[in-house]
Amino acid sequence: MIASKLMQFKQSGEKLAMLTCYDATFAKLMVEQGVDILLVGDSLGMVLQGQADTLKVSIQEMAYHTSMVRAGAPHAMIVTDMPANSYEHQSADALRNAQALLAAGADMVKIEGGGNTIACTKYLVDHGIPVCGHLGFTPQSVHQLGGYKIQGKTDMQAHQILHDALALQEAGASLLVLEMIPAALASQITAALSIATIGIGAGVNCDGQVLVLHDLLGIYTGPASGKTFKSPRFVKNFLSAHGSIQSAISHYVQAVKTAEFPGKEHSY
Ligand code: KIV
Repeated sequence: MIASKLMQFKQSGEKLAMLTCYDATFAKLMVEQGVDILLVGDSLGMVLQGQADTLKVSIQEMAYHTSMVRAGAPHAMIVTDMPANSYEHQSADALRNAQALLAAGADMVKIEGGGNTIACTKYLVDHGIPVCGHLGFTPQSVHQLGGYKIQGKTDMQAHQILHDALALQEAGASLLVLEMIPAALASQITAALSIATIGIGAGVNCDGQVLVLHDLLGIYTGPASGKTFKSPRFVKNFLSAHGSIQSAISHYVQAVKTAEFPGKEHSY
């Protein structure tokens, strides 16, 4: 059971190293290098499909990539993103979509946001689907949020994110991704929750970290739109100093486990 494995990490204090993964070859390699959780992220819309955001990714595409990741990593913990418009309401559609991802090989689905997502989390969990929440900057809401902006900077926003985190846990979520929020807020949320938190641009005190594979390798340079692309502050290229993909991933895992990554320079 994925929820009890995650609980063991939280209780022991061992940090969780998560990385996005989209195919069988990388899945096998990541397991060999000690990655704890493979995230089939809808970031694939950007890093594989070349789109400007994650909004056009379909449930069929997520299931397809999940099945490849599962083929390469039969025993790994796999979390798969439910893409935009596949879970917005607590409905039979959301449940069918989540079940399709589990049938493709996911152990858990990830859904973004507070608000309606909290009721949807409870609905899915009540129907036997393990759920990971995702708060702070939520890429599927990039346009509503006015772009790639740090969330939770005001007291009111910070209070709302903490409130949503507790509500997601209460609704039955077993894991929570925190993206682009102040490190102090992520630390407070991590201490308040009994479920594990995974940070991306959320400071070193989360229970684990996640990066997009292409960012860790330093090969994502934005969509082919001609606009100048600047990597976010939380990204670290592990390939440049370590010579091979295997070594880059293994150093990422070690840096997460020893809390060397993320440093202050990667945090807000
Ligand atoms: O899709 C993705 O890769 C994600 C990470 C940014 C956490 O959701």
